[in-house]
Amino acid sequence: MPLLLCYGLCDNFGFRVFLKWKVPCFWVLSMQVILINGQFPGPRLDVVTNDNIILNLFNKLDQPFLLTWNGIKQRKNSWQDGVLGTNCPIPPNSNYTYKFQTKDQIGSFTYFPSTLLHRAAGGYGAINIYERPRIPIPFPVPDGDFTLLIGDWYKTSHKTLQAYLDSGRALPFPDGVLINGQTYSTFSGDQGKTYMFRISNVGMSTSLNFRIQGHSMKLVEVEGSHTVQNIYDSLDVHVGQSVAVLVTLNQGPKDYYIIASTRFNRKILTTTAVLHYSNSRTPASGPLPAAPSYGYHGSMMQARTYKWNLTASAARPNPQGSYHYGKITPTKTIVLANSAPLINGKQRYAVNRVSYINSDTPLKLADYFGIPGVFSVDSIESSPSGGAAFLSTSVMSANLHDFLEIVFQNDEKTMQSWHLDGYDFWVIGYGNGLWNSAKRSTYNLVDALTRHTVQVK
Ligand SMILES: *[C@@H]1O[C@H](CO)[C@@H](O)[C@H](O)[C@H]1NC(C)=O
Ligand SMILES: *[C@@H]1O[C@H](CO)[C@@H](O)[C@H](O)[C@H]1NC(C)=O
Repeated sequence: MPLLLCYGLCDNFGFRVFLKWKVPCFWVLSMQVILINGQFPGPRLDVVTNDNIILNLFNKLDQPFLLTWNGIKQRKNSWQDGVLGTNCPIPPNSNYTYKFQTKDQIGSFTYFPSTLLHRAAGGYGAINIYERPRIPIPFPVPDGDFTLLIGDWYKTSHKTLQAYLDSGRALPFPDGVLINGQTYSTFSGDQGKTYMFRISNVGMSTSLNFRIQGHSMKLVEVEGSHTVQNIYDSLDVHVGQSVAVLVTLNQGPKDYYIIASTRFNRKILTTTAVLHYSNSRTPASGPLPAAPSYGYHGSMMQARTYKWNLTASAARPNPQGSYHYGKITPTKTIVLANSAPLINGKQRYAVNRVSYINSDTPLKLADYFGIPGVFSVDSIESSPSGGAAFLSTSVMSANLHDFLEIVFQNDEKTMQSWHLDGYDFWVIGYGNGLWNSAKRSTYNLVDALTRHTVQVK
């Protein structure tokens, strides 16, 4: 395909906008993206377990802006989470200093804008948490470490997408898939060496399949859990999730395609990057390895093969106790069902019939100062019941040290990602149809993974 690299560069609203895109030569695309420190994706944050992070965020956009630290546990400082309810969005031309600790965590994480569909315009980046010296990780230190932020992409601006939802339309099908903001990244390594690939889905709506031509991948880490090291030809990474794999460059000296393609839709969007052998003189060629032909069922079968490596040392989610999670009796069961209703002509998304609206007074402040009338803990049911969806500042109560059994019920037609912000949880079972208590006999109570985002079909 004839290629033209085009640069859209402008200085609207005080922030610089920049995008390189591979397009057929007879049309040129330029669009706004959100940069962090002049970069898209934003700068990678390389930190170490238990680091104390002090991060000052200046908002130069013309809208309020808020970043969230995806998978960073904030049990003791949830007002640093960067989501509505715990943080106020940062007004234009203002700054906010986040302070948090990467307590007992090792692994691959991301940050992204949590409000106003800003994520559709960029503003995201990787957070890689490395082990402290002397803390063994359950695999040899790789010869190199690549971070790949993969995601669907819309040519429509985030403000137009906002207007779609406000006019009652759903998000459209995306226009493409990007790897690190591009459609032509290259990752170089030496033949015979082993590299870590940290892959995160930073997109808006679409599950992606990731694979490397001619190479298999050894799964070693999922959102901070060290896994049983199974070998895969391809991996599904759902929106918001991260995985880390080891890849040995054990093929002939040429270049190979790295592929991210959309899942679960008849129409498949594909993008490639290149794995370059340093001794290669041959560009990547040949057919791309096919996307898995299986649908939801096969994808969920793959998810069931993810197991926690119980003998691996390294950071534990909770060294004090809940490691033996299967022996702890849950305090209560919560069933959360997602739906996509129209309310007052707008496309909204709801949980147990409630579509969340942000209160003017942040929930944390209302709670801390006992301000009445901001929220009520009776505003959402702990399991779904029939009836129309409505708007409310929904808050559910739980007690300190409660151990919860949470069932996610997807009443929509497409794959959904559920994320518990500031926490992780054991994914002990997947199932079809409605959950009932008999499903407990199918739970994995021994070596399930802890993660912060789970796919639900
Ligand atoms: C950052 O915000 C604080 C108020 O929260 C303000 O006092 C300070 O001047 C700001 N810093 C800069 C460099 O604008
Ligand atoms: C689990 O971790 C241990 C300790 O590092 C390692 O020796 C072992 O190979 C891992 N087991 C599996 C099945 O991946």
